[in-house]
Amino acid sequence: MKALIDRNVGEDPRLEAFKKQWFENKDCLDIGCNQGLVTIGLESMDGCSEQYDTILCLSVTKWIHLNWGDDGLVTLFVKIWRLLRPGGVFIMEPQPWSSYKNNRLVSEVAKENFNTICIYPESFREILLDKIGFRSVELIADRLVGTVSGFNRPIEVYHK
Ligand SMILES: C[S@@+](CC[C@H](N)C(=O)[O-])C[C@H]1O[C@@H](n2cnc3c(N)ncnc32)[C@H](O)[C@@H]1O
Repeated sequence: MKALIDRNVGEDPRLEAFKKQWFENKDCLDIGCNQGLVTIGLESMDGCSEQYDTILCLSVTKWIHLNWGDDGLVTLFVKIWRLLRPGGVFIMEPQPWSSYKNNRLVSEVAKENFNTICIYPESFREILLDKIGFRSVELIADRLVGTVSGFNRPIEVYHK
């Protein structure tokens, strides 16, 4: 897949935080892409592939966590690890625990999971490095100025 990030820089400040090398001529997967605005900004259309060089998971972990609990979250991380080629990158923008509270009542399942979650977002890093097996992590954005409200969160890049 060809991915160029110059064209739509400015539309979403998160695009500017990404390195070209993670997308140019790479197989990329954008999990929970919504209308696909970031995906379009990267000019990357998700084709099916057995493995990927780059996997994005931006502002999605909370929804998987509330819908599927701790087991679902760990399953997500394991699947991402398996889908990434060696040397691949996993770009994650996790929602903070404080934002889970806003959505805990969206369904009975979310309410139940909210009350039984033991893995908090602060410990995702430890799980991804020590249990899943990522080699290293870098923080590429702490707070992005100009980002659509609700998306000004830290973005971390894990290297397989
Ligand atoms: C806040 S939007 C983020 C959209 C996009 N990734 C971004 O950062 O601009 C949350 C996304 O999570 C997706 N989502 C919700 N529950 C999900 C689940 N259980 N599994 C996968 N994606 C889910 C929604 O469809 C939506 O696209």
